[in-house]
Amino acid sequence: MKKLISVSIVIVLLLGVSFTCNKCTPIPLTIKKEIVYQENIGDAEKYYGNYCSSCHGKQVKEFVNREKWVYGSTRNEMFDVVRNGAEENGMPAYGEVLSDKQVYELIDYILAAIEDKKSEEFNAGNNDDVVFVSEGMRLKLELVAENADFPWAITQSNDGRLFYTDKSGKLFTKKENVIQEITGLPSVIYKGQGGLMDVILHPDFENNQRIYLSYSKPKSDDDGYATTAVFSGILENNAIVNSKDIFVADPYVNTNRHFGCRMIFDNDGFLFVAIGERGRRDDYPQKLDNHLGKIHRLNDDGTVPADNPFYNTPNAKKSIYSIGHRNPQGLCYNPVTNKIYDNEHGPRGGDEVNLVEAGKNYGWPVITYGINYIGTTITDLTHQEGMEQPIRYWVPSIATCGMEFVTSDKYPGWKGNILSGSLKYNYLHRDVFDENDQLIKEEKLFPDIGRMRSIEQCADGYIYFGLEEPGRIYRIVPL
Ligand code: HEC
Repeated sequence: MKKLISVSIVIVLLLGVSFTCNKCTPIPLTIKKEIVYQENIGDAEKYYGNYCSSCHGKQVKEFVNREKWVYGSTRNEMFDVVRNGAEENGMPAYGEVLSDKQVYELIDYILAAIEDKKSEEFNAGNNDDVVFVSEGMRLKLELVAENADFPWAITQSNDGRLFYTDKSGKLFTKKENVIQEITGLPSVIYKGQGGLMDVILHPDFENNQRIYLSYSKPKSDDDGYATTAVFSGILENNAIVNSKDIFVADPYVNTNRHFGCRMIFDNDGFLFVAIGERGRRDDYPQKLDNHLGKIHRLNDDGTVPADNPFYNTPNAKKSIYSIGHRNPQGLCYNPVTNKIYDNEHGPRGGDEVNLVEAGKNYGWPVITYGINYIGTTITDLTHQEGMEQPIRYWVPSIATCGMEFVTSDKYPGWKGNILSGSLKYNYLHRDVFDENDQLIKEEKLFPDIGRMRSIEQCADGYIYFGLEEPGRIYRIVPL
């Protein structure tokens, strides 16, 4: 049990508290607080190894399996015994060597392990038999497909037909246990972070069979330049016909990074497309004359709605909806409030969830909670006037990918929550925001399951997720 497992931290104390001062934007303290936990997952494990394992065993198992607690098993009781010791019984006091914060981290590490006794069975590979518990729901995983190594995106039509991309450039469909490959796809650059990415269906797919793919488009065969494009056509049998690129991000860049690219439709039938800055943070995300590092709003045929925020701005790309994004890898929609959320990769640290609104600037690379991968700072600024704060961020980065806003009746305990995959820590992250988009609770689901690339609430009301290498698509089934 290597990591902090299935933690649900309710930040009761800070709930609803926001600060006001004349000069600064209010800082949602809930976010700050939560970082303390996130930042030290690795450290708690280290302290445990250094200070506790000699007596309590290498893994936290000794606590997980403890049936009778001498000093109590609540967070505060455990805190007391670790800080003050129980010398009479041979438990040393750690108040001198560990700060209160470190002790709490240790306790949370132990509590998290206790909360998820199942994880060991799970790690042993018995996913089919494991029951996960979250918010009173008992959940099982059902393997749906394992023929795509990089299932980048998943969707489903109302008749139950599943569609999923493989980053290598393939699109598969599955209906009643039969998997078939769909032809008529564009040729993609499958290199670095590039490849075939999202697949979504037109809101009226049942009648028009229109399908959309986002992909890394080569400029010409060998010059190394590529961009992100949206391709759309009509699905006829198992082929996409009458197809064309309805959006091609300008300019082409000779990197293989930060393509984006997630897509969603809103209730009004507008298509939102999230494009990364292609690893050129100083050139593109803050300037309006290009498509990179932006979220775009289009009509379903790729034309641009005239009420877009920069439509009448001279020299601006008319499709731009919001700017200052780094590499959005998740996009989701609350159909009741009409709010759009994205998650995006920060640099080392600073992965974000943003509430995406028309005309707003999300600050990259002027403000960020991250640092450069080699440890040097990008900027000291985390706030600036005219730039939006994320509604949550992760330090260190969990490498978010895929995102879903849960509306399905199948998961009453998760309704209204936002799910994000973690590529780096191999789990599904659940965030609970209140109606003001303040983070009030979070949970790590399916610990250590694998690099989570895609997450989708499908037409059948079930949530599906895709893991890569080995590629597997699972459906989460409440019992
Ligand atoms: C020198 C051996 C030793 C070390 C090192 C040690 N403990 Fe203990 N610990 C004990 C003993 C002995 C007890 C009391 C009886 C028991 O084990 O149930 C105890 C009790 C506890 C309890 C209370 C259990 C209960 O039943 O209420 C907690 C919690 C705990 N230790 C946590 C830790 C943590 C965290 C660390 C590392 C910072 C640690 N211990 C390091 C020996 C040790």
